[in-house]
Amino acid sequence: MTDRPHVLLSCAISLDGYLDDASDRRLVLSNADDWDRVDEVRAGADAIMVGATTIRRDNPRLEVRSADRRAARVEAGRPDTPLKVTVTATGDLDPAAAFFATGEQLVYAPAGVTAPGTVVPTGDRVDLAVDLAMVLADLAARGVARLMVEGGTSMHTAFLTAGLADELHLVVAPFFVGDSKAPRFVHDGRFPWDGTHRATLVEVRRIGNVVLQRYLLSRSEVDRHWLRAAVELSELCPPTDSAFDVGAIVVDEHGDELARGYSRELDDTGHAEENALAKLDPADPRLAGATIYSSLEPCGRRRSRPRTCTELILAAGITRVVFALREPPTFVDGEGAELLAAADVEVTEVPELADAVRDVNRRLL
Ligand SMILES: NC(=O)c1ccc[n+]([C@@H]2O[C@H](COP(=O)([O-])OP(=O)(O)OC[C@H]3O[C@@H](n4cnc5c(N)ncnc54)[C@H](OP(=O)(O)O)[C@@H]3O)[C@@H](O)[C@H]2O)c1
Ligand SMILES: [Zn+2]
Repeated sequence: MTDRPHVLLSCAISLDGYLDDASDRRLVLSNADDWDRVDEVRAGADAIMVGATTIRRDNPRLEVRSADRRAARVEAGRPDTPLKVTVTATGDLDPAAAFFATGEQLVYAPAGVTAPGTVVPTGDRVDLAVDLAMVLADLAARGVARLMVEGGTSMHTAFLTAGLADELHLVVAPFFVGDSKAPRFVHDGRFPWDGTHRATLVEVRRIGNVVLQRYLLSRSEVDRHWLRAAVELSELCPPTDSAFDVGAIVVDEHGDELARGYSRELDDTGHAEENALAKLDPADPRLAGATIYSSLEPCGRRRSRPRTCTELILAAGITRVVFALREPPTFVDGEGAELLAAADVEVTEVPELADAVRDVNRRLL
C-alpha cells in the first residue's frame, strides 16, 4: 500500500540550534541514556541513513549496539542491525569507513559515479543530485518500511523541505555553540511546517540534562495519532445496547485540541461529535479550518434527536472530518460521509484503525 517507508528524522542540537561545532572534533551533544534511547529507535528501523559528509566527518558505525536488541531482531527474522544507507554526488567515501565495516550498506549516487560498497545508480545524469523520493521508492521496493535519518544538515533539510518526513525526534542539549560557521540543524528553505501549518508535538521527555521533543509531521501520522486518541476516548462511554460507543476530538488548523467528547457523556443519548461541539462556542473562529476526528462515521440520520452530527458539523463550519469505521447498518443507514462530502467537507477514512473501533463495539456487531 505505501509507496515510501515511514521516515523518522533524529538529531541532537545545541540550545542555539547547531548540530555540531566548527572544529574537527565530534561534539558530544547527548548522554548515555539518550544514546540508549537512540539505540532502541535504531532497533525498530529497517534502514538508517546519513549524508556522505557525516560519514566523512563523524565516521559513525550506525549499528544497533545492545546485544539484547540485536538478538530480538534476529529472533523476529530480521538482520541483527538495520541496512545502512547514504547518498553522495561525488562518491568520495573511504572504503575503510566504519559505515562499510559491518552489516549491509547501500550507496545511492548519480549514474556513472563510482563509490565503495553496493552502489545504486539513480537517474542517468551525473550532474543531477540524487532524487530522495526515488531513493525512498527504491528502499520500499527492497522491503524497507521504516527509515531512520540521522543527519546531517543537508539530509534533514532535504527530507523536510520535500515534505518527505513523518516524524522528528529532536534532542536539545543545554549549551550554546555560538559560532555561525558550525552546521545548523537545517539550512534555509521553505518548510511545509511554517507558522500556519505546524508539526504536532506528541511527547516531551527529560533525559538527564537533555530534553527529547517528539513531533509528528505528515498528515497521515497526525491523523492516526488523533484518531487513536478518539478510539481510546470511546472506551469511556457508558454501556448501552442501543447505540455505538464513539469518541470525537476537535483539533484546530494549528494542531491544538479544542474539545473532545464521547457517546452519552453529557446525557443518555448524546453522540460523541455532538458532545464535543457542545463544549465550544458556535462562534469560535477556530472552528473554521478545524478537523473533527471521530472513531465512527458521523451520523447522517438519527432517531433520537432532531439534528444529526453531520448537520452539527456543517453548522459549526468544520472543514475536515476523519473517521476510522463507516457506520455499520445496525441502527440506521449512515451516509454521513456522503452528506459531508457533498457539502464540500474533506472526508478522510482511516480503515487501518477500523478493527480497533469494531473491538470497542463488539457487542453490537
Ligand atoms: N547532532 C547530530 O545529531 C548530528 C547527526 C549527524 C550529523 N551531524 C553533523 O552534521 C554535519 C554534516 O552535515 P552536512 O549537511 O554537511 O552533511 P550531510 O547531510 O551528512 O551530507 C551531505 C552530503 O551528502 C551527499 N548528499 C546529500 N544530498 C544529496 C543528494 N540529493 N544527491 C547526492 N548527494 C547528496 C553529498 O555528498 P558528497 O559531498 O559526497 O557529494 C553532500 O555533500 C557534521 O558536522 C556532522 O557532525 C550531527
Ligand atoms: Zn451522531
